[in-house]
Amino acid sequence: MTTDPRPRVFVARRIPAAGLARITEACDATVWPGELPPARDELLAGVTGCDGILTLLTDRVDDELLDAAGLRLRVVSNFAVGFDNVDVAACTRRGVRVGNTPGVLTEATADVTFALLLAAARRLPEAADHVRDGAWRTWDPLGLLGVDVHGATLGIVGLGRIGQAVARRATGFGMRVLYHGRTRASAAVETALGATFAPLPELLEASDFVSLHVSLDDRTRGLVDAAALARMKPTAILVNTSRGPVVDTDALVTALRDGMIAGAALDVTDPEPLPADHRLLGLPNCLVVPHIGSATRATRDRMAAMAADNLLAGVEGRPLPTQVNPEVR
Ligand code: DGY
Repeated sequence: MTTDPRPRVFVARRIPAAGLARITEACDATVWPGELPPARDELLAGVTGCDGILTLLTDRVDDELLDAAGLRLRVVSNFAVGFDNVDVAACTRRGVRVGNTPGVLTEATADVTFALLLAAARRLPEAADHVRDGAWRTWDPLGLLGVDVHGATLGIVGLGRIGQAVARRATGFGMRVLYHGRTRASAAVETALGATFAPLPELLEASDFVSLHVSLDDRTRGLVDAAALARMKPTAILVNTSRGPVVDTDALVTALRDGMIAGAALDVTDPEPLPADHRLLGLPNCLVVPHIGSATRATRDRMAAMAADNLLAGVEGRPLPTQVNPEVR
């Protein structure tokens, strides 16, 4: 019996061929065939004895998983720019490189952010239902009135790559842009984007739309809580395309139900997926789509290619093109 000399990898879901074909060619690869993520025990069994793992944001990478994988593991390639599902410190302690897919999904995610903002402002889902339900009887001077986007103030929380791409779109809509972030952008970036720094409370109080673009960590978990929502205008709309737990879901339900804010448009939720009977879905002023920020064919192809590049570099012991723990050499 011959043993396969190629690196052994586990790929936690089928990803576009733009990356998968190269992985299956170069590696002894097990690709999880399900439409749903592997259950925890299936994931732990799948990674056992692997040199590399390709994970999704639905797969938790922690000490338990790293133990299950064993000493051969050299790389975790996450098929996402966010990597809050990965305990990077635990990987670093074991000399395991971690990769992500930054940059390639910036514009697609900014597009969805703006689509959500516009849809909520102009009540597009309601308007489409109105037509589908046969309720469109005439041009109605008082029907389905929304709020103006042009000329409104947009507060961007987190002016990283995606936040900046959203600011560029806002300029085209003649919006005034405020931003808040851990670090202040350079004067050149502020000028190019027409964006003004504001402390978070001020941003929340002044904005007609608040859009979240922070990564999820201990400092941003629950950032938008009851106190933050209470600062927002009763006419304001919250847009979240970052990570669900950045917003306190119970507080958001209360704020939307009690008219503390006018609406929310969410690509991400906590929990995720959102059960069909969740209270958020019973609120007419809440629009939810299923984490589709990066969901264009071209973007997912680029993410797959990048995740494959990271995985293949890692199993060969090379630095990853986009490594989040460069201290592992
Ligand atoms: C990411 O990459 O972090 C997105 O949430 C999914 O594309």
